[in-house]
Amino acid sequence: MVEPIKLSTREQRERLIETAHYNLFLLRAEDVIIDLLTDSGTSAMSAEAWGAMMRGDESYAGARSWYRFRDTVKDIFGFEQVIPTHQGRAAEHILFGVTVKPDSIIPNNTHFDTTRANIEFFGGKAIDLPCLEADDLESEYPFKGNMDIAALENLIVDEGSERIPIIMVTVTNNSGGGQPVSMANIREISRIARGANIPFYIDACRFAENGHFIKRREPGYENTSAADIAREMFSYADGCTMSAKKDAFANIGGFLCTNDAELAQRERNILILTEGFPTYGGLAGRDLEAIAVGLREILDEHYLDYRLLSTRYVVEHLRELGIPVVVPAGGHAVYIDSRRFLPHLEPLQYPGQSLAVELYVEAGVRGCEIGTVMFGADPHNGDERPARHDLVRLAIPRRVYTQSHMDYVLEGLNLVWERRSDIRGMRIVRAPKYLRHFTAEFDWI
Ligand SMILES: Cc1ncc(COP(=O)(O)O)c(C=O)c1O
Repeated sequence: MVEPIKLSTREQRERLIETAHYNLFLLRAEDVIIDLLTDSGTSAMSAEAWGAMMRGDESYAGARSWYRFRDTVKDIFGFEQVIPTHQGRAAEHILFGVTVKPDSIIPNNTHFDTTRANIEFFGGKAIDLPCLEADDLESEYPFKGNMDIAALENLIVDEGSERIPIIMVTVTNNSGGGQPVSMANIREISRIARGANIPFYIDACRFAENGHFIKRREPGYENTSAADIAREMFSYADGCTMSAKKDAFANIGGFLCTNDAELAQRERNILILTEGFPTYGGLAGRDLEAIAVGLREILDEHYLDYRLLSTRYVVEHLRELGIPVVVPAGGHAVYIDSRRFLPHLEPLQYPGQSLAVELYVEAGVRGCEIGTVMFGADPHNGDERPARHDLVRLAIPRRVYTQSHMDYVLEGLNLVWERRSDIRGMRIVRAPKYLRHFTAEFDWI
């Protein structure tokens, strides 16, 4: 899909962002020049996927498109039970709805915002156990998405396995800088989970990118195919949640998998209530077709090489400019460290939000704060504390932008970098209790 880009002036953008209460989610998309808000649902579909959509079978029950979707998911992910949902968070909502009790604890390498919010919504506690290397944004450790295995073992001993209905790991670790998780780490988590009789789930959104990092960085996988790496990753798990808006190139869609038939039955009961009949979930037949094609295409290693190299291109150029960025380069996004970019601001002055707003004003580029705005508030008591990091994520849609678009982004960032000492912090004027970053209103301090 080729989309036109509408140019705007700096004065226009100053007005537009003020009208949007300095929240980039509240802008009209057409007022954005380069949109790096998310890689979710924003990828370009292929001729094959569009062709398959034309063959979508829209029968209510047992559609041809459902079987194509189910068989593809089973083949790649290897789970017995496949439950289609309209996107990843719907899969999370169903999974946690049947497993989380008010005193439950769910560990993850780092929970994504919707995962955390869904657990908290059902009264559970979402705990992040990133590996120690993840804290050092400048460390070149190749698998900074790993979970801290010792911390996981301690948590099980301290809290008891009966309080932990699920152990999760997110590949790649979106909120932790888009960093990959090694196969060795996945294997270890699985061993511990099985030893404690706790189901192990993978948040699989970017499974193919994670797999390609394994191929390129983990000894022993150099000659293993992307499909075989994926199958091995999921063979260690008892289930997964998936947003097909990422590593399936689809504009919408997701699924929930498990090997537990009894659990799947309870999940389908909720599915029928909230999403739809079990052979379409929240999706049209044409969406099921697009996902089935996308899941095959994402395992093309030429594509995966290009994907990882193009993200690295941006990271390397930012480093040359002296701009603080999370290294090594992740898969789907570039993460700028706004605390080091704006060292004169406190975390509770939301440096990530300031930087994201300034980049929009400067160049019309839309990124996303991943820091204290997103994770700083405790919905149980309204307390506020600095998040572990304050990052600005520039997520790169798949197969959409060229190198010259990314060069434009680099120029815009450099202009903001040159006037960084003049940039002010922000305050929150209004915010909801859950997922506040989507709708909060801000102003300059
Ligand atoms: C790691 C991770 N998990 C879950 C989700 C939720 O998926 P969806 O947006 O399809 O609900 C996302 C979306 O960005 C994600 O990045």
